[in-house]
Amino acid sequence: MKKFYLTLLLIIAAAIISYGFIGAQQSEEGDKHPDVDWTLSCQECHSEMTPDIYKDWEMSKHGDVDFGCYICHGDGQEAFYPKGTDERCGGCHAGQLVEFEKTKFNSCYDCHNGHTLKFHNE
Ligand code: HEC
Ligand code: HEC
Ligand code: HEC
Ligand code: HEC
Repeated sequence: MKKFYLTLLLIIAAAIISYGFIGAQQSEEGDKHPDVDWTLSCQECHSEMTPDIYKDWEMSKHGDVDFGCYICHGDGQEAFYPKGTDERCGGCHAGQLVEFEKTKFNSCYDCHNGHTLKFHNE
C-alpha cells in the first residue's frame, strides 16, 4: 500500500513538473512585453501608454474591484499573454464556466470584450 502511494506521489510530482515546463514554453514562444521600467504598475504606465484600454478597464466591473491586468495578461516578465488568457476566470466565475468542447466557441473572449467585458454585439 505504501508503495502505491509513493508511486502516486511520483506521478503527481512528474505531472506538476511537466506542466511547469509546458507553461514556460508557451510564454517563451509567445510575444514578449516590451522591456520597460517594471517598478511601475501595469495601470500606472498604461494609463499613459494606452489610455483608451485603461479607461475601458477602469470603467468595467473588473476596474471597480481593481482586478488587475496581470490576471489575463500575466506579469509581463515570467509570463505574458498579449491577447489575454481566460484560464483564470473560473476562480471567480465558476457559475459562468463554459464547456467549450460542446460549443462552437473557443474562449470567453469570443463573446466578451476583455476590457469593457460587454457582450460584443451590444
Ligand atoms: C513602464 C511602462 C509599462 C509598464 C509598467 C507595463 N507596460 Fe505594457 N506596454 C507598454 C508599452 C510601451 C507597450 C507597447 C504599446 C504599443 O505598442 O502601443 C505595452 C504593450 C502591452 C500590451 C500589448 C502587447 C501586444 O503585443 O499587443 C499588453 C497586453 C500589455 N502591455 C500589458 C501589460 C501588463 C499586464 C503590465 C503589468 C504586468 C504592463 N503591460 C506593464 C508599457 C508598459
Ligand atoms: C479580463 C481579461 C483582461 C483584463 C483584466 C485586461 N485585458 Fe488587455 N486584453 C484582453 C484581451 C482578450 C485582449 C485581446 C483583444 C483583441 O484581440 O481584440 C487584450 C488586449 C490588450 C492590449 C492589446 C490591444 C491591441 O489592440 O492590440 C493591451 C495593450 C492591453 N490588453 C492592455 C491591458 C491593460 C493595461 C490592462 C489593465 C488595465 C488589461 N489589458 C486588462 C483581456 C484583458
Ligand atoms: C479575482 C476575481 C475575478 C476574476 C479572476 C475574473 N473576474 Fe470577472 N468579475 C469579477 C467581479 C467581482 C465582477 C463584478 C461582479 C458582479 O457585478 O456581480 C466581475 C464581472 C465580470 C463580468 C460582468 C461584467 C458586467 O458589466 O456585468 C464579466 C463578463 C466578467 N467578469 C468576465 C470575466 C472573464 C472573461 C474573466 C477571465 C478572463 C474574469 N471575469 C475573471 C471578478 C473576477
Ligand atoms: C456564447 C457567448 C458567451 C461566451 C462564450 C461567454 N459568455 Fe459570458 N455572457 C454572455 C452573455 C450574452 C451575457 C449577458 C450579457 C449582458 O447581459 O450584457 C454574459 C454574461 C456574463 C457574466 C455576467 C453574469 C451576470 O449574471 O450578469 C459573466 C460574469 C460572464 N458572462 C462570464 C463569462 C466567462 C468567465 C466566460 C468564459 C468561461 C464567458 N462568460 C463566456 C455570453 C457569453
